[in-house]
Amino acid sequence: MNKITEISSTLLAYLKRPDLYPELRRKIWKNLFNRSSALRGKTEAEQWCRQLAITEREFVENVLKMDFVPFEKLFPVELGTALHAQQNAKVKMGGAGSLNVIYYINEFAGSHTSVETGVAYGWSSFAALASLERRNGMLYSSDMPYILQNHSEDFVGCVIPNQYRIHWSLYRFADKESLPKIFEKVHSIDVVHYDSDKTYDGRMWAYKLLWEKLRRGGVFMSDDIGDNAAFKDFCNHNNLSPHVIEFDGKYAGVVIKN
Ligand SMILES: C[S@@+](CC[C@H](N)C(=O)[O-])C[C@H]1O[C@@H](n2cnc3c(N)ncnc32)[C@H](O)[C@@H]1O
Repeated sequence: MNKITEISSTLLAYLKRPDLYPELRRKIWKNLFNRSSALRGKTEAEQWCRQLAITEREFVENVLKMDFVPFEKLFPVELGTALHAQQNAKVKMGGAGSLNVIYYINEFAGSHTSVETGVAYGWSSFAALASLERRNGMLYSSDMPYILQNHSEDFVGCVIPNQYRIHWSLYRFADKESLPKIFEKVHSIDVVHYDSDKTYDGRMWAYKLLWEKLRRGGVFMSDDIGDNAAFKDFCNHNNLSPHVIEFDGKYAGVVIKN
C-alpha cells in the first residue's frame, strides 16, 4: 500500500467510526505537529534499560520473593487452546507482553481490580485473568480496534479462555475515552498493565492518571519501555525505583507503589 492509499484508507476507516472521531482528531494533530513523540529519547532509554535489565525469573524470585514456575507450566491446557485460537484468527495483531510478569504481579498484589491498556489477541488479559479469577476479581481493559483491518474487533481477546470472561470488562475506545469511563467504575486499582499508545505523550498522559489510581502496595507495569524515554522520565520525575525486565528482546518496566 503506498502512502497516499494508506492515508485515504485510514481516513475512510475512521470516518465510518464516530466513536473514534476524537482519536482521529488527535492523530491528525500528531502527524502535523508532533511527529517526534514515538521515538523521543529512544537511545538513552535503551541504554538505561540495558543497564538495569533482569530476567523474568530474577524479578519474580528476587523482587517479588515468590517461587517461579513458568506460566506455560501452570496453565498448559488453557495455553494450548489459546494458541489454537490465535492460529485461527483472521487478522494479524500486536504481540504478547510477558505472561510470567503479568501473572505474578497480580498474584503478588492479591489483585481484585486490574486495569490494562492494549488487548489485541488478549495474551496479557489471559495472564492477568488466570490470577484474578481465583479471587473473583475483575480486569478492565481499554483497546482501540486496528482501524485498517476489517473485523479485527471480532478477534480482540480471542485467546482469553471462556471460563475467565465473566471477570473481564472491555472498553473498545482509545484510552483517552476508555480510561475516564473505566474510572467511573473503578476508584482504586491493584495492578496496572500499560501496552497501548506507545508514543511519549500518550504514555505520559496515561501513566499519570493510572498511577494516581493505583493503591499503595499495588503494581504498575508498562511494556516496551525502550521505545522512548517516557517510562524513564516518569520514574525520575516521581522519584520512583523501577525494575526493568528483559524478555523477547524487549523491556518491560515495573514499579511497586510504596
Ligand atoms: C501490543 S498490542 C497489545 C498486546 C496485548 N497487551 C497482549 O499482551 O496480547 C497493542 C494494542 O493497543 C491498541 N491501541 C493502540 N493505541 C491505542 C490507544 N490510543 N487506545 C487504546 N488502545 C490502543 C492496539 O489497537 C492494540 O490492540
